[in-house]
Amino acid sequence: MNNNDEIIIRPANNNDDLKRIAELIYKTDVYIYPYWFENVENAKEELSQRLLEEGFIFNINNIDVAVDSKTNEIVGIINSYTKNSNLNYDYTNLKNKNERYNFTITNYVEHLVNDIKNVPYAYISNICVHENYRGKKIAKKLINYVKDKYKKQLLDEIYLDVIINNKSAVVAYEKNGFEVQSDVFTGFAGPSEEEPEVVSMSSRL
Ligand SMILES: CC(C)(COP(=O)(O)OP(=O)(O)OC[C@H]1O[C@@H](n2cnc3c(N)ncnc32)[C@H](O)[C@@H]1OP(=O)(O)O)[C@@H](O)C(=O)NCCC(=O)NCCS
Repeated sequence: MNNNDEIIIRPANNNDDLKRIAELIYKTDVYIYPYWFENVENAKEELSQRLLEEGFIFNINNIDVAVDSKTNEIVGIINSYTKNSNLNYDYTNLKNKNERYNFTITNYVEHLVNDIKNVPYAYISNICVHENYRGKKIAKKLINYVKDKYKKQLLDEIYLDVIINNKSAVVAYEKNGFEVQSDVFTGFAGPSEEEPEVVSMSSRL
C-alpha cells in the first residue's frame, strides 16, 4: 500500500499516460461516457488522442493528475476550467461522426461550455481516483490543488454537478467544503437510458 506522501499532484502533460487519463475520465460518469464511447477500451483509444486537441473540453491543459512517485503511475485525475480556458473547439467533426456524438455533444458538452463562458467561477467537470487508490485522501489532494490554483487566479468560487446517487463523490465533495446549491435536476444520459438526478455544488475558494 502506498503512503499518501508519495502522491504528487501536478498538471498533466503530453508525455503522460494519456490512455490512463482517458480511462479515468471514462470512469467519472456511468451514464454519459459508456453512451458516448460504448466501452472503456474505445475511450482509451479515442479520448486519449482528443486530449491533445486544442480547445477540447477534456484537453490535457485542463487536467491535473495525481501520480504515485514510486511507480510514476497516474492514480487520479481532475479536469477543471474557467471561462478563460481555451474551450473554442469545433465540435462539427464529432457531431458528424455518429448519432451518439450528435446527441451527447449537443446536449452535454456544449451546455457545459456555454455555461462556463457566462460565469466568473471555476468548474470541475471530472474527478477520479483509480480503484486501487481510493480512500487515501487523493481526491482531497486533487480538490485542494485546483482550489489553490484558482484562488491564485483570484477567483472566489468553484462549482460542479454531481449525480446524487454517486454517494462517494457527494461525500468527498461535502468533506471538502462543497455545499449543494441547486434543486435536483435531470442529468444527461443516452436517449433510451434512465436519466440520472443531478445537483450543483459549490465551494468558496
Ligand atoms: C469520488 C472519488 C473521486 C473519491 O476519491 P478518494 O480518493 O477515495 O476520496 P478521499 O479518500 O479523498 O476521500 C475524501 C473524503 O470523502 C470520504 N469518502 C470517500 N469515499 C467515500 C465513500 N465511499 N463512503 C463514505 N465516505 C467516503 C472520505 O472518508 C474522506 O472523508 P475525510 O476527509 O473525512 O476522511 C472516488 O470514489 C472515485 O474516483 N469514484 C469514481 C469516479 C467518480 O464517480 N467521480 C465523481 C464524478 S462527479
